Amino acid sequence: MAKPVKIMETVLRDAHQSLCATRMRIEDMIPMLETLDNAGFWALEAWGGATFDSCLRFLNEDPWERLKTLKKHLPKTPISMLLRGQNILGYNHYADDVVEMFVKKMVEHGIGVIRVFDALNDVRNLETAIKAGVASGAHVQGVCVYTISPYHQTQDYVKLAKELQARGVNSICIKDMSGMIKPYVAYDLVKAIKAEVDLPVHLHTHYTSGMAAMAELKAAEAGVDIIDCALSTFANGTSQPPTESMIATFEGTEYDTGIDRQALKPVALHFAGVKKRIAGEFGLNTHFDTNVNVLDFQIPGGMLSNLRKQMSEMGLESDEDYQALLDEMPLVRADAGYPPLVTPTSQIVGSMAAFNVMMTKMGGERYSMVPKEFRDLCRGLYGRTPQPVNPEYKDKILNGAEEITCRPADNIPPQLDELKQQLADAGYPNASIEDVLSYAIFPQVALEFFKNNR
Ligand code: CO
Repeated sequence: MAKPVKIMETVLRDAHQSLCATRMRIEDMIPMLETLDNAGFWALEAWGGATFDSCLRFLNEDPWERLKTLKKHLPKTPISMLLRGQNILGYNHYADDVVEMFVKKMVEHGIGVIRVFDALNDVRNLETAIKAGVASGAHVQGVCVYTISPYHQTQDYVKLAKELQARGVNSICIKDMSGMIKPYVAYDLVKAIKAEVDLPVHLHTHYTSGMAAMAELKAAEAGVDIIDCALSTFANGTSQPPTESMIATFEGTEYDTGIDRQALKPVALHFAGVKKRIAGEFGLNTHFDTNVNVLDFQIPGGMLSNLRKQMSEMGLESDEDYQALLDEMPLVRADAGYPPLVTPTSQIVGSMAAFNVMMTKMGGERYSMVPKEFRDLCRGLYGRTPQPVNPEYKDKILNGAEEITCRPADNIPPQLDELKQQLADAGYPNASIEDVLSYAIFPQVALEFFKNNR
Protein backbone atom coordinates (compact mmCIF):
# COMPACT_ATOMS: atom_id res chain seq x y z
CA MET A 1 0.00 0.00 0.00
CA ALA A 2 1.39 3.37 -1.00
CA LYS A 3 2.33 5.54 1.95
CA PRO A 4 3.99 8.64 0.45
CA VAL A 5 6.27 10.53 2.81
CA LYS A 6 5.69 14.27 2.79
CA ILE A 7 8.57 16.73 3.02
CA MET A 8 8.85 20.10 4.70
CA GLU A 9 11.68 22.07 3.07
CA THR A 10 13.73 24.13 5.55
CA VAL A 11 16.10 26.12 3.30
CA LEU A 12 14.25 29.35 4.07
CA ARG A 13 14.57 28.99 7.87
CA ASP A 14 16.34 26.24 9.82
CA ALA A 15 18.91 25.41 7.13
CA HIS A 16 20.35 28.91 7.05
CA GLN A 17 19.88 29.32 10.80
CA SER A 18 22.00 26.18 11.22
CA LEU A 19 24.68 26.85 8.59
CA CYS A 20 24.67 30.63 8.08
CA ALA A 21 23.76 32.21 11.44
CA THR A 22 20.26 33.06 10.08
CA ARG A 23 21.66 35.68 7.70
CA MET A 24 19.61 34.93 4.57
CA ARG A 25 17.72 37.93 3.20
CA ILE A 26 14.35 38.03 1.47
CA GLU A 27 16.14 39.08 -1.76
CA ASP A 28 18.08 35.80 -1.61
CA MET A 29 14.81 33.88 -1.48
CA ILE A 30 12.49 35.65 -3.94
CA PRO A 31 14.00 34.32 -7.23
CA MET A 32 13.31 30.70 -6.20
CA LEU A 33 9.98 31.02 -4.40
CA GLU A 34 7.83 30.20 -7.41
CA THR A 35 9.75 26.98 -8.12
CA LEU A 36 9.67 26.01 -4.44
CA ASP A 37 5.94 26.74 -4.33
CA ASN A 38 5.33 24.42 -7.28
CA ALA A 39 7.58 21.59 -6.08
CA GLY A 40 4.96 19.80 -3.99
CA PHE A 41 6.33 20.23 -0.47
CA TRP A 42 3.97 19.74 2.47
CA ALA A 43 5.12 23.12 3.73
CA LEU A 44 8.05 25.53 3.48
CA GLU A 45 9.55 26.48 6.80
CA ALA A 46 10.35 30.17 6.36
CA TRP A 47 9.70 32.19 9.52
CA GLY A 48 10.10 32.12 13.30
CA GLY A 49 13.00 30.63 15.23
CA ALA A 50 15.84 33.13 15.08
CA THR A 51 14.72 34.78 11.81
CA PHE A 52 12.68 37.46 13.57
CA ASP A 53 15.61 38.52 15.75
CA SER A 54 18.07 38.35 12.85
CA CYS A 55 15.88 40.45 10.52
CA LEU A 56 15.69 43.31 13.01
CA ARG A 57 19.15 43.01 14.50
CA PHE A 58 21.43 42.20 11.56
CA LEU A 59 19.59 42.56 8.25
CA ASN A 60 17.67 45.83 8.69
CA GLU A 61 14.60 43.97 7.49
CA ASP A 62 11.07 44.10 8.90
CA PRO A 63 10.14 40.47 9.73
CA TRP A 64 6.45 41.23 9.17
CA GLU A 65 7.18 42.63 5.70
CA ARG A 66 9.26 39.54 4.95
CA LEU A 67 6.30 37.35 5.84
CA LYS A 68 3.93 39.33 3.62
CA THR A 69 6.38 39.11 0.70
CA LEU A 70 6.82 35.37 1.21
CA LYS A 71 3.07 34.84 1.19
CA LYS A 72 2.67 36.89 -1.99
CA HIS A 73 5.14 34.59 -3.78
CA LEU A 74 3.92 31.36 -2.17
CA PRO A 75 0.20 31.15 -2.95
CA LYS A 76 0.03 27.33 -2.84
CA THR A 77 2.39 25.87 -0.26
CA PRO A 78 1.76 26.61 3.43
CA ILE A 79 4.41 28.68 5.20
CA SER A 80 5.54 27.07 8.45
CA MET A 81 7.03 28.90 11.41
CA LEU A 82 8.66 27.87 14.69
CA LEU A 83 7.15 29.34 17.87
CA ARG A 84 8.67 29.11 21.36
CA GLY A 85 5.32 28.81 23.12
CA GLN A 86 4.85 31.45 25.79
CA ASN A 87 8.33 32.81 24.89
CA ILE A 88 6.99 33.64 21.39
CA LEU A 89 10.28 34.34 19.56
CA GLY A 90 12.16 35.73 22.55
CA TYR A 91 13.90 34.39 25.64
CA ASN A 92 11.40 34.91 28.44
CA HIS A 93 7.69 34.54 29.05
CA TYR A 94 5.14 37.06 27.81
CA ALA A 95 1.59 37.79 28.87
CA ASP A 96 -1.24 35.92 27.15
CA ASP A 97 -2.49 39.03 25.34
CA VAL A 98 0.88 39.40 23.57
CA VAL A 99 0.97 35.70 22.60
CA GLU A 100 -2.61 35.84 21.30
CA MET A 101 -2.07 38.99 19.24
CA PHE A 102 1.23 37.73 17.85
CA VAL A 103 -0.33 34.47 16.65
CA LYS A 104 -3.35 36.27 15.20
CA LYS A 105 -1.21 38.75 13.24
CA MET A 106 1.26 36.21 11.87
CA VAL A 107 -1.56 34.02 10.57
CA GLU A 108 -3.22 37.08 9.01
CA HIS A 109 0.04 37.81 7.22
CA GLY A 110 0.41 34.32 5.82
CA ILE A 111 1.55 31.69 8.32
CA GLY A 112 -0.15 28.36 7.58
CA VAL A 113 1.62 26.01 9.97
CA ILE A 114 2.58 26.84 13.55
CA ARG A 115 5.11 24.50 15.13
CA VAL A 116 4.98 25.30 18.82
CA PHE A 117 7.38 24.00 21.46
CA ASP A 118 8.33 24.57 25.06
CA ALA A 119 11.92 23.99 26.15
CA LEU A 120 10.77 22.04 29.23
CA ASN A 121 7.94 20.18 27.45
CA ASP A 122 5.64 21.87 29.98
CA VAL A 123 2.28 21.76 28.19
CA ARG A 124 0.95 24.64 30.30
CA ASN A 125 3.37 26.90 28.43
CA LEU A 126 1.86 25.82 25.10
CA GLU A 127 -1.82 26.19 25.93
CA THR A 128 -2.32 29.84 25.00
CA ALA A 129 -0.38 29.54 21.74
CA ILE A 130 -2.21 26.36 20.73
CA LYS A 131 -5.59 27.89 21.51
CA ALA A 132 -4.77 31.07 19.58
CA GLY A 133 -3.39 29.04 16.66
CA VAL A 134 -6.47 26.85 16.44
CA ALA A 135 -8.73 29.93 16.61
CA SER A 136 -6.77 31.54 13.77
CA GLY A 137 -7.43 28.59 11.49
CA ALA A 138 -3.77 27.63 11.03
CA HIS A 139 -2.44 24.08 11.23
CA VAL A 140 -1.05 23.79 14.76
CA GLN A 141 1.75 21.33 15.32
CA GLY A 142 2.48 20.36 18.92
CA VAL A 143 6.08 19.48 19.70
CA CYS A 144 7.76 16.80 21.78
CA VAL A 145 11.25 18.25 22.34
CA TYR A 146 13.55 15.25 22.04
CA THR A 147 16.35 14.75 24.51
CA ILE A 148 18.28 11.87 26.03
CA SER A 149 18.08 11.32 29.80
CA PRO A 150 17.11 8.57 32.23
CA TYR A 151 13.74 10.32 32.53
CA HIS A 152 12.91 10.71 28.84
CA GLN A 153 11.71 7.29 27.72
CA THR A 154 9.45 6.45 24.79
CA GLN A 155 6.38 6.37 27.02
CA ASP A 156 7.09 9.89 28.32
CA TYR A 157 6.90 11.25 24.78
CA VAL A 158 3.75 9.24 24.06
CA LYS A 159 2.16 10.75 27.17
CA LEU A 160 3.18 14.23 26.03
CA ALA A 161 1.84 13.62 22.51
CA LYS A 162 -1.50 12.58 24.02
CA GLU A 163 -1.62 15.73 26.14
CA LEU A 164 -0.98 17.80 23.02
CA GLN A 165 -3.71 15.95 21.14
CA ALA A 166 -6.14 16.66 23.99
CA ARG A 167 -5.40 20.37 23.54
CA GLY A 168 -6.43 20.30 19.91
CA VAL A 169 -3.20 20.25 17.87
CA ASN A 170 -3.39 19.03 14.27
CA SER A 171 -0.14 17.06 14.23
CA ILE A 172 2.76 15.99 16.45
CA CYS A 173 6.39 16.90 15.80
CA ILE A 174 9.34 15.07 17.31
CA LYS A 175 11.85 17.91 17.51
CA ASP A 176 15.44 16.72 17.67
CA MET A 177 17.20 20.08 17.60
CA SER A 178 20.64 18.71 18.42
CA GLY A 179 20.56 15.80 15.96
CA MET A 180 20.76 13.05 18.58
CA ILE A 181 17.97 10.69 17.60
CA LYS A 182 19.29 7.28 16.56
CA PRO A 183 17.63 5.52 13.62
CA TYR A 184 16.14 2.66 15.64
CA VAL A 185 15.04 5.02 18.39
CA ALA A 186 13.26 7.12 15.78
CA TYR A 187 11.57 3.98 14.49
CA ASP A 188 10.34 2.95 17.95
CA LEU A 189 9.25 6.46 18.91
CA VAL A 190 7.23 7.02 15.73
CA LYS A 191 5.63 3.58 16.07
CA ALA A 192 4.75 4.20 19.72
CA ILE A 193 3.22 7.62 19.09
CA LYS A 194 1.33 6.46 15.99
CA ALA A 195 -0.09 3.55 18.00
CA GLU A 196 -1.69 5.79 20.59
CA VAL A 197 -2.25 9.16 18.92
CA ASP A 198 -4.50 9.62 15.94
CA LEU A 199 -2.57 12.49 14.33
CA PRO A 200 0.11 12.87 11.64
CA VAL A 201 3.63 12.57 13.06
CA HIS A 202 6.47 14.78 11.78
CA LEU A 203 10.18 14.21 12.41
CA HIS A 204 12.52 17.19 12.70
CA THR A 205 16.18 16.37 13.12
CA HIS A 206 19.66 17.68 12.35
CA TYR A 207 22.66 16.00 10.68
CA THR A 208 25.04 16.96 13.53
CA SER A 209 25.82 13.42 14.70
CA GLY A 210 25.66 11.96 11.19
CA MET A 211 22.51 9.87 11.70
CA ALA A 212 19.72 12.11 10.44
CA ALA A 213 19.05 10.53 7.04
CA MET A 214 19.06 7.07 8.58
CA ALA A 215 16.69 8.28 11.29
CA GLU A 216 14.30 9.70 8.68
CA LEU A 217 14.45 6.47 6.68
CA LYS A 218 13.63 4.36 9.73
CA ALA A 219 10.94 6.86 10.73
CA ALA A 220 9.38 6.41 7.28
CA GLU A 221 9.38 2.65 7.76
CA ALA A 222 7.61 3.21 11.09
CA GLY A 223 4.93 5.26 9.37
CA VAL A 224 6.06 8.84 9.89
CA ASP A 225 3.93 11.23 7.82
CA ILE A 226 6.29 14.17 7.30
CA ILE A 227 10.06 14.69 7.49
CA ASP A 228 12.14 17.87 7.47
CA CYS A 229 14.81 18.17 4.79
CA ALA A 230 17.01 20.95 3.47
CA LEU A 231 17.91 21.53 -0.15
CA SER A 232 21.24 19.76 -0.83
CA THR A 233 23.34 22.92 -0.96
CA PHE A 234 22.02 23.90 2.49
CA ALA A 235 22.00 20.42 4.03
CA ASN A 236 24.19 18.17 6.20
CA GLY A 237 26.55 19.49 8.90
CA THR A 238 24.34 20.98 11.59
CA SER A 239 21.44 21.31 9.12
CA GLN A 240 18.87 18.76 7.87
CA PRO A 241 19.32 15.76 5.53
CA PRO A 242 19.40 16.73 1.84
CA THR A 243 15.96 16.99 0.26
CA GLU A 244 17.00 15.54 -3.10
CA SER A 245 18.73 12.56 -1.45
CA MET A 246 15.65 11.73 0.58
CA ILE A 247 13.44 12.08 -2.51
CA ALA A 248 15.76 9.69 -4.36
CA THR A 249 15.83 7.30 -1.41
CA PHE A 250 12.09 6.82 -1.57
CA GLU A 251 11.67 6.89 -5.38
CA GLY A 252 9.87 3.81 -6.65
CA THR A 253 8.99 2.58 -3.16
CA GLU A 254 5.76 2.70 -1.22
CA TYR A 255 7.11 5.88 0.43
CA ASP A 256 7.67 7.74 -2.89
CA THR A 257 7.32 11.47 -2.19
CA GLY A 258 6.11 12.24 -5.71
CA ILE A 259 8.39 15.29 -5.80
CA ASP A 260 10.38 15.86 -8.99
CA ARG A 261 14.04 15.96 -8.05
CA GLN A 262 15.00 17.52 -11.39
CA ALA A 263 12.87 20.60 -10.74
CA LEU A 264 15.04 21.38 -7.71
CA LYS A 265 18.34 21.54 -9.62
CA PRO A 266 18.22 25.28 -10.41
CA VAL A 267 17.07 25.98 -6.85
CA ALA A 268 20.02 24.11 -5.36
CA LEU A 269 22.37 25.97 -7.68
CA HIS A 270 20.92 29.34 -6.70
CA PHE A 271 21.22 28.67 -2.98
CA ALA A 272 24.80 27.41 -3.36
CA GLY A 273 25.62 30.92 -4.56
CA VAL A 274 23.62 32.48 -1.74
CA LYS A 275 25.52 30.45 0.86
CA LYS A 276 28.86 31.48 -0.59
CA ARG A 277 27.87 35.14 -0.63
CA ILE A 278 26.57 35.10 2.98
CA ALA A 279 29.68 33.29 4.21
CA GLY A 280 31.87 35.94 2.59
CA GLU A 281 29.80 38.92 3.69
CA PHE A 282 29.59 37.89 7.35
CA GLY A 283 32.83 35.94 7.62
CA LEU A 284 31.06 32.70 8.47
CA ASN A 285 32.28 29.14 8.45
CA THR A 286 29.52 27.10 6.78
CA HIS A 287 31.19 23.70 6.98
CA PHE A 288 30.69 21.56 10.06
CA ASP A 289 32.27 18.15 10.51
CA THR A 290 30.09 15.33 11.78
CA ASN A 291 30.29 15.31 15.57
CA VAL A 292 28.87 12.25 17.28
CA ASN A 293 29.96 13.60 20.70
CA VAL A 294 26.82 15.72 20.68
CA LEU A 295 25.22 12.57 22.12
CA ASP A 296 27.19 13.23 25.30
CA PHE A 297 27.32 17.00 25.71
CA GLN A 298 23.95 17.58 23.96
CA ILE A 299 24.61 21.22 23.16
CA PRO A 300 22.72 22.43 20.06
CA GLY A 301 25.08 23.31 17.21
CA GLY A 302 24.23 27.00 17.06
CA MET A 303 25.26 27.48 20.66
CA LEU A 304 28.75 25.94 20.68
CA SER A 305 30.48 28.94 19.13
CA ASN A 306 28.78 31.37 21.53
CA LEU A 307 29.80 29.23 24.46
CA ARG A 308 33.47 29.36 23.54
CA LYS A 309 33.26 33.16 23.27
CA GLN A 310 31.45 33.44 26.60
CA MET A 311 34.15 31.30 28.22
CA SER A 312 37.02 33.41 26.99
CA GLU A 313 35.25 36.48 28.39
CA MET A 314 35.40 34.69 31.75
CA GLY A 315 39.10 33.97 31.34
CA LEU A 316 38.59 30.32 30.41
CA GLU A 317 40.59 29.97 27.22
CA SER A 318 42.38 26.62 27.28
CA ASP A 319 41.28 23.34 25.73
CA GLU A 320 41.26 21.87 29.25
CA ASP A 321 38.79 24.53 30.37
CA TYR A 322 36.64 23.79 27.36
CA GLN A 323 36.68 20.05 28.06
CA ALA A 324 35.86 20.81 31.72
CA LEU A 325 32.85 22.75 30.52
CA LEU A 326 31.69 19.95 28.22
CA ASP A 327 31.99 17.58 31.19
CA GLU A 328 30.21 19.99 33.55
CA MET A 329 27.21 20.59 31.25
CA PRO A 330 25.54 17.17 31.81
CA LEU A 331 26.07 17.49 35.58
CA VAL A 332 24.42 20.91 35.73
CA ARG A 333 21.63 19.67 33.48
CA ALA A 334 21.02 16.72 35.83
CA ASP A 335 21.01 19.03 38.89
CA ALA A 336 18.45 21.26 37.18
CA GLY A 337 16.10 18.31 36.64
CA TYR A 338 17.19 17.20 33.15
CA PRO A 339 15.76 20.00 30.99
CA PRO A 340 16.17 19.39 27.24
CA LEU A 341 18.82 21.79 25.94
CA VAL A 342 17.19 24.16 23.46
CA THR A 343 16.59 27.93 23.47
CA PRO A 344 16.58 29.26 26.17
CA THR A 345 17.57 26.35 28.50
CA SER A 346 20.73 25.58 26.48
CA GLN A 347 22.14 29.06 27.14
CA ILE A 348 21.02 29.03 30.78
CA VAL A 349 22.60 25.66 31.58
CA GLY A 350 25.69 26.59 29.54
CA SER A 351 26.46 29.75 31.47
CA MET A 352 25.84 28.02 34.82
CA ALA A 353 28.30 25.31 33.80
CA ALA A 354 30.84 27.98 32.81
CA PHE A 355 30.50 29.63 36.24
CA ASN A 356 30.99 26.28 37.99
CA VAL A 357 34.14 25.59 35.98
CA MET A 358 35.47 29.05 36.81
CA MET A 359 34.69 28.83 40.54
CA THR A 360 36.14 25.32 40.84
CA LYS A 361 39.29 26.46 39.06
CA MET A 362 39.67 29.26 41.61
CA GLY A 363 39.38 26.75 44.45
CA GLY A 364 35.74 27.54 45.19
CA GLU A 365 32.65 25.37 45.13
CA ARG A 366 30.11 24.63 42.43
CA TYR A 367 27.03 26.87 42.57
CA SER A 368 28.75 29.47 44.78
CA MET A 369 27.88 31.94 42.01
CA VAL A 370 24.49 31.45 40.33
CA PRO A 371 23.27 33.60 37.40
CA LYS A 372 19.72 34.91 37.80
CA GLU A 373 18.43 32.92 34.80
CA PHE A 374 19.64 29.63 36.25
CA ARG A 375 18.05 30.43 39.61
CA ASP A 376 14.83 31.27 37.73
CA LEU A 377 14.96 27.98 35.82
CA CYS A 378 15.36 26.04 39.07
CA ARG A 379 12.59 27.92 40.88
CA GLY A 380 10.04 27.24 38.14
CA LEU A 381 9.95 30.59 36.36
CA TYR A 382 10.24 28.85 32.96
CA GLY A 383 7.82 26.08 33.93
CA ARG A 384 8.11 22.65 35.46
CA THR A 385 11.49 20.95 35.00
CA PRO A 386 11.18 17.30 33.89
CA GLN A 387 12.52 16.14 37.27
CA PRO A 388 12.85 17.96 40.61
CA VAL A 389 15.98 20.05 41.12
CA ASN A 390 18.75 18.11 42.92
CA PRO A 391 17.97 18.56 46.67
CA GLU A 392 21.70 18.57 47.44
CA TYR A 393 22.11 21.96 45.74
CA LYS A 394 18.60 23.34 45.67
CA ASP A 395 18.86 25.69 48.67
CA LYS A 396 22.20 26.96 47.49
CA ILE A 397 20.88 27.65 43.99
CA LEU A 398 17.59 29.24 45.08
CA ASN A 399 19.19 31.26 47.89
CA GLY A 400 15.79 32.10 49.37
CA ALA A 401 14.09 32.98 46.07
CA GLU A 402 10.40 32.12 45.85
CA GLU A 403 9.38 28.89 44.09
CA ILE A 404 6.77 29.05 41.35
CA THR A 405 4.48 26.09 40.80
CA CYS A 406 1.72 27.65 38.68
CA ARG A 407 1.92 28.30 34.93
CA PRO A 408 4.52 31.11 34.86
CA ALA A 409 2.41 33.38 32.61
CA ASP A 410 -0.37 33.36 35.23
CA ASN A 411 1.79 35.84 37.12
CA ILE A 412 2.17 38.19 34.14
CA PRO A 413 -0.59 40.82 33.76
CA PRO A 414 -1.64 41.93 30.25
CA GLN A 415 1.19 43.82 28.53
CA LEU A 416 -0.09 45.21 25.21
CA ASP A 417 -1.47 48.54 26.47
CA GLU A 418 1.66 49.19 28.49
CA LEU A 419 3.84 48.39 25.46
CA LYS A 420 1.83 50.78 23.26
CA GLN A 421 2.28 53.48 25.88
CA GLN A 422 6.02 52.87 26.07
CA LEU A 423 6.29 53.15 22.29
CA ALA A 424 4.26 56.37 22.31
CA ASP A 425 6.60 57.76 24.96
CA ALA A 426 9.55 56.78 22.77
CA GLY A 427 8.13 58.88 19.93
CA TYR A 428 5.92 56.39 18.09
CA PRO A 429 2.34 57.20 19.16
CA ASN A 430 0.87 55.72 15.96
CA ALA A 431 2.92 52.53 15.89
CA SER A 432 1.26 49.66 14.02
CA ILE A 433 0.32 46.58 16.02
CA GLU A 434 3.11 44.71 14.19
CA ASP A 435 5.63 47.25 15.45
CA VAL A 436 4.23 46.94 18.96
CA LEU A 437 4.74 43.18 18.76
CA SER A 438 8.31 43.57 17.45
CA TYR A 439 8.96 45.95 20.34
CA ALA A 440 7.43 43.49 22.80
CA ILE A 441 9.85 40.73 21.83
CA PHE A 442 13.07 42.75 21.30
CA PRO A 443 12.61 46.24 22.80
CA GLN A 444 16.11 47.67 22.27
CA VAL A 445 16.68 46.09 18.88
CA ALA A 446 13.24 47.17 17.64
CA LEU A 447 13.77 50.78 18.74
CA GLU A 448 17.08 50.84 16.89
CA PHE A 449 15.32 49.44 13.81
CA PHE A 450 12.50 52.00 14.03
CA LYS A 451 15.06 54.81 14.33
CA ASN A 452 16.48 53.83 10.94
CA ASN A 453 13.26 52.82 9.21
CA ARG A 454 10.22 54.68 10.54
CO1 CO B 1 16.02 22.65 14.05
